[in-house]
Amino acid sequence: MPSNYLTDIDACVFDAYGTLFDFNTAASAARDELGDDWQRLSDLWRLKQLQYTWLRGLAHQHADFWQVTGDALDFALAALRVERPGLHARLMKLYLELGTYPEVPAMLRELKARGMKLAILSNGTPAMLAAVVTNSGLDGVFDAVLSVEDVGVYKPHPSVYDLAAKRLKLEPSRICFLSSNGWDAYSAKAFGFRVIWCNRFAQVPERIPATPDGEIADLAALPAMLNQ
Ligand code: LAC
Repeated sequence: MPSNYLTDIDACVFDAYGTLFDFNTAASAARDELGDDWQRLSDLWRLKQLQYTWLRGLAHQHADFWQVTGDALDFALAALRVERPGLHARLMKLYLELGTYPEVPAMLRELKARGMKLAILSNGTPAMLAAVVTNSGLDGVFDAVLSVEDVGVYKPHPSVYDLAAKRLKLEPSRICFLSSNGWDAYSAKAFGFRVIWCNRFAQVPERIPATPDGEIADLAALPAMLNQ
């Protein structure tokens, strides 16, 4: 039994981008146009996307994740000097067709078969999330697909995490939250969830409140860490 085995969990709530859905697959699918720049473009696009959520939150200038994602892409294309007619639209369309990480569908099926409630809690708009869920063949798998648009502020604002507890009608301590984003995992733990950091990118620990209950390299390890 792993030392960080979690008991009394009624629901698993997953972050979307980077945790279930691989945001690199958008730029990677446009390699014919981006060439060797595709990974740098993908990295900068993601970095600016997240920065813009935090900057807009601090400035009380909320705009939805579709706009923020498009603005971040504009920045990244300009910074890397790879702007071309049609490329922005192509990449945004690809963002609606992101694939899952390979282990995700089987892991979700296993947890669902055990009767675990499953949900997504994401910065993504309802339309963006519906698109990637459907595109990945995951319709009907989740009990709830929750967007920050219902609270009008981005992660890591506590009201976002509270949305999941309220919608699932569960105490935060009965929810296991999963994110590959260290800042999201730590902040969800500070809110009161039990948290496993899916540390896909082998990042070093964050220096913010509060430390997750456990850490795994990918989601294939999750079912073995949960006891219901
Ligand atoms: C999300 C981002 C943070 O899905 O990955 O909320």
